Amino acid sequence: MSGVRHFLRDDDLTTAEQAEILDLALDMKADPLGHRPLAGGAAAILFDKPSTRTRVSFSIGVWQLGGYPLVLDPDGSQLGRGEGIGDTMRVLQRQVDLVVWRTFGQARIEELTSVATVPVINGLTDEFHPCQILADLLTLREHHGQLPGLTLAYLGDCANNMAQSYALGGAVAGLHVRLAGPADHHPDPAVLHRARHLAEATGGSVTVGTDPHAAADGADAIATDTWVSMGMEQAKDDRMGRSNPFATLRVDEAVMARTAPGAVFLHCLPAYRGYEVTAEVLDGPASVVWDEAENRLHAQKALMAFLLAASGIRPGGGHR
Ligand code: CP
Repeated sequence: MSGVRHFLRDDDLTTAEQAEILDLALDMKADPLGHRPLAGGAAAILFDKPSTRTRVSFSIGVWQLGGYPLVLDPDGSQLGRGEGIGDTMRVLQRQVDLVVWRTFGQARIEELTSVATVPVINGLTDEFHPCQILADLLTLREHHGQLPGLTLAYLGDCANNMAQSYALGGAVAGLHVRLAGPADHHPDPAVLHRARHLAEATGGSVTVGTDPHAAADGADAIATDTWVSMGMEQAKDDRMGRSNPFATLRVDEAVMARTAPGAVFLHCLPAYRGYEVTAEVLDGPASVVWDEAENRLHAQKALMAFLLAASGIRPGGGHR
């Protein structure tokens, strides 16, 4: 529907909008109950996949914004028995002001928005995890002061949702994003092309390679993610066993030693110590993963406030 703003991919925000949201997130972090754009309203938070951080941060965030957080899982709703996405959305938006969905393919959430009259937020798809990148950018702002010109190196599966969102969201922010992963686990070329196009305008850059130490050289942040993304559990033995393709990409102290002074370590969590990151790094002085997890709350609150205002949604409006 025209006029309604959604957040399905990192590049759904302009550079100025992303910065505005991060500024607002910092205000909200300083005054958690001081902003009430959802007073009298509600948000539906739907999960087709497991979650701890997304579930908690959106639930608490909606409540802190003055709204009612309605959390639905497939087992507890008709979505799990095959009711269509469109029909579900038509029902929800008569009663809620915003919808968050964690699901499988990006096409599913795009289908949902085709009938949406309230903002829809991607709480993770197979292709993108844009809310996590907002939280990561907020964490980098807190630790490094400003974003443009910073270098972030991501090591691991560069075809997964985190790598693709780092490429897009980092490009929007003006970061130099270096992705390092096996040659057959690189991002979708269309995503990479889009990210590089965005970076041309923001002064950032996006590179993809295979050498973790080259990626880490002088970086201001190192990031990684589990080697077994949700939905890939059948490949767990290949991805975490003796012959896994990511073994040389583990973030350890040798990787961190290549970084710039003051560099931080990011991980969206859950983390698997001894696999994609060593315990020494995850639990060490450069790790900011607990700040990053908390920042999901603040970044998403600011995002929700932005989308509601930009869409002209008045909480409790109903009958849309
Ligand atoms: N990082 C993240 O999205 O965590 P959850 O899967 O626990 O929501």
